[in-house]
Amino acid sequence: MRCAICKKKAEVYLPHHNLALCREDFINFFLKRVKKAIDDFNMFEKEDRILLAVSGGKDSLSLWHALLKLGYNAIGLFIDLGIDKFSKLAREVVEKFSKKNKTNLITVKLENEFGGNTLPQIVERTKAIPCKVCGKIKRYYFDRIASKENFDVIATGHNLDDESAFLLGNVLNWNIEYLAKQLPALPEEDGFKKKVKPLIYLTEREIAIYAFFNEIYYNELNCPFSKKAKSHFYKESLHQMELSFKGLRIKFFKGFLRNQKIFGKVEKNYSLSPCKICGYPTSKEICGVCKIKINLGLIEREK
Ligand code: AMP
Ligand code: FES
Ligand code: ZN
Repeated sequence: MRCAICKKKAEVYLPHHNLALCREDFINFFLKRVKKAIDDFNMFEKEDRILLAVSGGKDSLSLWHALLKLGYNAIGLFIDLGIDKFSKLAREVVEKFSKKNKTNLITVKLENEFGGNTLPQIVERTKAIPCKVCGKIKRYYFDRIASKENFDVIATGHNLDDESAFLLGNVLNWNIEYLAKQLPALPEEDGFKKKVKPLIYLTEREIAIYAFFNEIYYNELNCPFSKKAKSHFYKESLHQMELSFKGLRIKFFKGFLRNQKIFGKVEKNYSLSPCKICGYPTSKEICGVCKIKINLGLIEREK
C-alpha cells in the first residue's frame, strides 16, 4: 500500500478515514487533528500556560509530546497516588519524558498531602470506592495547582474512544446533566479553571501508533483497582459496532457535538460556595477532599 500523500510505502492504514499513510505523514496527520480540536473549541492560544495532567499512560504522554511539537507551553502535572508498581512505573515514565523533552513537571505525592496515606490506604481507612475517591482527589489537585500557579487552562488526555463510550453511557442512562457538560472545552466557571480535551478527534489506536513512532515510553500496567466497569463495556460495544460500520464512533461523537446545545439548558439544582476549610468550590459546607482528611483524623471539622 502507498501513502495517500507522498506515495512512499505506507506504514499505517486508518480504516475510518480510508487512508494509508507513511510514518512522517501519519505524524503530520496526528498533529493536525490535535490542532483542529484546539482551534475548533478555542481551547487555548500559543501564549497560554497549559497545565497538562499526565498519568504516565500513552494518551497524556502523546498529548504532551504533540503540544510541545506544536509550540504550546504545556507543563505536566503528575499525581502520585502511591498505588504499588502501577504508580512507581507511571512516575518513572513521566519523569523520563520531562527530562528527555526538557520540560517542567509538577508532582503531587498523595502521601505528603494525606498524612502519609497512599490511595490504597485512604480507600482502606475511609471505606471509599477506589475510582470514585481517586477521581475526586485528582480533580481537586488539578484545580488547586492550576489556580495556585496561575495556569490558564487544564488539559487531559481523554480520547475519542473515552468520549464516545462516555457519551453512549450517558445516552443509554439519559444522564441529561452529564450530556449538558460533556464538552471538549469547559469554560472557567464557579471557581473552577477551564478544562480541555485536545485528543477528542483521535482514537486509542492512533495514539498508540503516534507513541510508537515517536519512541514515547509509557506505563502499560492497568491500575489494580480498575474493574470491568460499565465504561469498558460501552467502549468494547462501540469497537464491535465500528467493525461493521466504519467511522461510526467519530460520526456519533461529532453528531453529538453539533447537537449538544439541546442539552445545554438544564438548570443546576445546586449552588457552589467555597469550602469552609480550604476554599475549594463545593455544594456542601465542606468539600470532598477536606471530608476525607477529617475522616482520616488529619484535620478537625470546626475551624
Ligand atoms: P483516566 O481516567 O485514567 O483514563 O485518565 C484520564 C486523564 O486524566 C488522563 O489522560 C490524564 O490526563 C489524567 N490523569 C489520570 N491519572 C492521572 C494522574 N495520576 N496524574 C495526573 N493526571 C492524571
Ligand atoms: Fe485511580 Fe485506579 S487510577 S483508582
Ligand atoms: Zn476543602
